[in-house]
Amino acid sequence: MVYFIYVVLAASIVTKSGKVIISRQFRELQRSRIEGLLVSFPKLTSSGQQHTTIETEHVRYVYQPLEELFMVLITNRQSNILQDIESLHLFARVVTDTCRSCDEQDILRNAFELLCAFDEIISEGYRENVNLSQVKSIIEMESHEERIQEIIAKNKEQEAKEELKRRAKQFEMQRKEASKRGQGFMQGNFSSTNNFNGGRFSPSLEPTVQTVTETPSYVGRSSTPPASKARGMQLGRKPKTADLFEAMKTEVEEPLLKSSSSSFSGVSSAVNKNHESVHVTIEEHVSMTANRDGDLEQLEVKGVLTLRVADPNNARVRLALRSADDSAIQFKTHPNVDKVAFKNENVVQMRDQSRPFPLNENLKVVKWKYTTQDETAVPLIINCWPSPAGNGLCDVNIEYELESDHLELHDVVISIPFPGEPSANVKNVDGNYFIDRQRRVLEWQLPLINSSNKSGLLECSIPADDVTGFFPVMVAFVSERLICDVDVVSVENLETHSPITFSKEVMLAADDYTIG
Ligand SMILES: *[C@@H]1O[C@H](CO)[C@@H](O)[C@H](O)[C@H]1NC(C)=O
Ligand SMILES: *[C@@H]1O[C@H](CO)[C@@H](O)[C@H](O)[C@H]1NC(C)=O
Ligand SMILES: *[C@@H]1O[C@H](CO)[C@@H](O)[C@H](O)[C@H]1NC(C)=O
Ligand SMILES: *[C@@H]1O[C@H](CO)[C@@H](O)[C@H](O)[C@H]1NC(C)=O
Repeated sequence: MVYFIYVVLAASIVTKSGKVIISRQFRELQRSRIEGLLVSFPKLTSSGQQHTTIETEHVRYVYQPLEELFMVLITNRQSNILQDIESLHLFARVVTDTCRSCDEQDILRNAFELLCAFDEIISEGYRENVNLSQVKSIIEMESHEERIQEIIAKNKEQEAKEELKRRAKQFEMQRKEASKRGQGFMQGNFSSTNNFNGGRFSPSLEPTVQTVTETPSYVGRSSTPPASKARGMQLGRKPKTADLFEAMKTEVEEPLLKSSSSSFSGVSSAVNKNHESVHVTIEEHVSMTANRDGDLEQLEVKGVLTLRVADPNNARVRLALRSADDSAIQFKTHPNVDKVAFKNENVVQMRDQSRPFPLNENLKVVKWKYTTQDETAVPLIINCWPSPAGNGLCDVNIEYELESDHLELHDVVISIPFPGEPSANVKNVDGNYFIDRQRRVLEWQLPLINSSNKSGLLECSIPADDVTGFFPVMVAFVSERLICDVDVVSVENLETHSPITFSKEVMLAADDYTIG
């Protein structure tokens, strides 16, 4: 046998008839494949047991009932059953902890939090070393519910409830739509759909779209990549290793045709060919909530620096970093990283310098978080002014302004919901617009916003009885410059004391950027 890679392929919640309510795939598998596996799953189950495993020719299901539903992990057959069951318990506890009652509605209402939590437990198919309280604190940090609770506290109870309902409905609608298209929500095969111009998914509710997959790699010191490449960026939730996927696919789908040439080492060194033996990914996600008047409620930036070392000769390294000089940015380092050196010298190295960094692993070495209510920190300010014009129409003026001059935002999509009939008479527009009748939004598309061209306006008239239906306005964008400006400026080999050529991907994405 050739493959001994233990991976969890997917974590799903399904009904007793095998209908998928939510599913998170940790490996790039075809949606139809996972759906097929989940549909056949109920036929294989036997009732009455608390948790059970079922093994088929190609995969293993590990499951437990959640009231009327099932929590199911699909793993490959090399997996360690004890660990699977332990993971399953953690998944189930996260679900019961997050949802008051585990019915379909509740699961859907909490889909975002659940999917985020699932990602904390399993990363690229591998179990993360986390327990329930850690996952819970992460979810709490990320909770949308929390923000909605804040709004409620501000005496806007009714409004917030409606908002929640609206979002749940919209989410459900998108889910249906995605499933009609046979893609998207299941999140396995996402790279083809997540072009921001398409704007298929509302940024606030679709947790998958926002991370680096394969941005163009570039080498050396420059922190500013060639701008022209940005349009070709591909986004997906997790960095993926395409060849590993190929290997998995072979293993799952064609176990009989396995070729002995795909050795483990062949698989594990399978990374993007443009990557140097030391590759860093620097990624930030920004979320923002502003009210209808455009006043900032909260801006949050979360970042992570991931290091991947592919060559044992370059595994004892020190990274020299740079970042924006702002004490409000809170940094955390991996437990094995030398905290003191990080704090005093702004370098990342192993605490025990005789130890190498692990090979062929995407190691999150530094994370950071920046939260503020300071309006001047908002990268892109959006003002949306609907006003009733009589005859069942509203005039809508919406404008943007780039506040952070150092940023260059690509593929900006500002989505304005249609309160009524999805049509618009656009009188004036910088950039392009698109009426998405299915999603019922007016998409305002701006390929590039930088300091040479900071602001723009869209004026239109839209059928609506009142102005409240034009919110929340949702914004998506990506950038190769970061808000906290964290950068790796050089990498030194600690054995030879010479600099190493490394490759770097930098990506900022708006995750949940909403107004109103
Ligand atoms: C992903 O989707 C695209 C288009 O929807 C399709 O062409 C491609 O074959 C799919 N890839 C996988 C691995 O399912
Ligand atoms: C979870 O892990 C953290 C950090 O390792 C530890 O402090 C905490 O006690 C653990 N909690 C539980 C319930 O095991
Ligand atoms: C500024 O940006 C808008 C929107 O992308 C675009 O329509 C316009 O042509 C740009 N103006 C210049 C001078 O580049
Ligand atoms: C903004 O983008 C335009 C078009 O790519 C470019 O010509 C211009 O130099 C950029 N401005 C800045 C300040 O980078």
